[in-house]
Amino acid sequence: SLPFPVYTRQEVARHHNKASRVWVTYGSDVFDVTDFVEQHPGGKSKILLAAGGALEPFWALYAMHNQEHVLELLRGYKVGELSPEEPPQMNPEDPYAHDPPRHPALRVNSLKPFNAEPPPELMAESYLTPNELFFKRNHLPVPSVDPATYSLSVQGAYGQAFSLSLEELKKNFPKHEVTAAMQCAGNRREEMNAIQNTNRLGWGVGAISNARWGGARLRDVLLCAGYKPSDEGHVWFDGLDQDQSGTVYGASIPMKKAMNPEGEVLLAYEMNGEALPQDHGFPLRVIVPGVVGARNVKWLASVSVHPEESPSHWQQRDYKGFSPSVTWETVDFSKAPAIQEMPVQSAITEPSPEACVTPGELTVKGYAWSGGGRKVIRVDVSLDGGQSWHEAQLLPGEEQLPSRVWAWQLWELNVRVP
Ligand code: HEM
Ligand code: MTE
Repeated sequence: SLPFPVYTRQEVARHHNKASRVWVTYGSDVFDVTDFVEQHPGGKSKILLAAGGALEPFWALYAMHNQEHVLELLRGYKVGELSPEEPPQMNPEDPYAHDPPRHPALRVNSLKPFNAEPPPELMAESYLTPNELFFKRNHLPVPSVDPATYSLSVQGAYGQAFSLSLEELKKNFPKHEVTAAMQCAGNRREEMNAIQNTNRLGWGVGAISNARWGGARLRDVLLCAGYKPSDEGHVWFDGLDQDQSGTVYGASIPMKKAMNPEGEVLLAYEMNGEALPQDHGFPLRVIVPGVVGARNVKWLASVSVHPEESPSHWQQRDYKGFSPSVTWETVDFSKAPAIQEMPVQSAITEPSPEACVTPGELTVKGYAWSGGGRKVIRVDVSLDGGQSWHEAQLLPGEEQLPSRVWAWQLWELNVRVP
């Protein structure tokens, strides 16, 4: 038999939809699966996520593909082989050259700094978002931190600062776990931009994800540093990520939230049972359940307590809400408080806004969440622009205590489309 033609990854990448045919790779083999797309048991929208690229990162998430009958089926679609890889070009001048590798399913809103969200059709597939798919929101290059030499600086109540190694933090403070969704204030900004351009990074419905976090309670560390539960003020967090001028990412939360035993603020070193991934703040980050993503400082360098809020740009001149009549010319950031708790949110993840649906059975999927630990008690969906409403089915998740419902609520509705 003739040898298979040889293709580069770039050539494969051109075959990313039905019009150009749907190609995928597995190992060093190339497959044209166009004729299988409609028959895919997991649905057309999911198989198309891998179009033009490798199957491995997707099948690592959906491991039921690693069975002989699936591989056998795939072999029937082989059309070629990959040419040996050329090493990727790296520019040593690029401050982002050391950013970690990312999952190809992510929808990239900005490459440098890296801002990306999971595709909506995968969001409601899992209650805990896989780390690879968890949305990523960076303002600066991702720092590489050596966990062996890492230490956290903690400002003590009487002026003296002390440092904690990662080992000391793990050994000296009980591990606490909490399942919490995190949402960026910019979630769904594309929909806002469609009405009035905000001149800010667009996000679809994916600037929110849900994970189980593990770490030391910030409260325990602050008590150890000499603070009292009744102390007032603000806890400042500084990150290790910095720009060329040496400015680091920083933010703060009120002492009240930090010291509240029911606030469950963590200095987290685990995400979904694994060490924090590099993009999510390795080796240590803050998790502030129920509060806007911006305060959940990653690559945590220091914790300190002050009478006023953090002077950081991201606390003072960003992450604040204004009236639609305020423009970039007239905005006065001192007039609005920094966002902390987020309001209620609910979004449809499937079908997508442009999808064409046929009359008959339709499954609508989505998530709902509220900041401040407030529980979502019901989700209503309208198919006629708000004339009538269907009550969605709330999917099972972790049972959480009243006023500490930090996780999101996935929901589904099966309905007949006339
Ligand atoms: C299920 C094939 C790509 C997501 C399946 C099954 C097959 C299959 C045979 C049924 C497995 C079983 O039940 O034993 C393929 C082939 C692919 C492909 C040949 C590529 C050429 C993908 C991708 C994704 C995906 C890229 C995700 C992004 C799923 C899901 C199911 C599934 C979620 C489970 C459906 C259910 O249990 O209802 N696939 N798949 N597949 N696939 Fe794929
Ligand atoms: N912490 C540091 N050090 N640097 C950052 O750029 N981004 C913040 C917050 N913490 C950021 C940070 C913002 S705006 C959000 S929404 C969350 O991290 C995103 O966290 P994630 O990337 O783990 O989803």
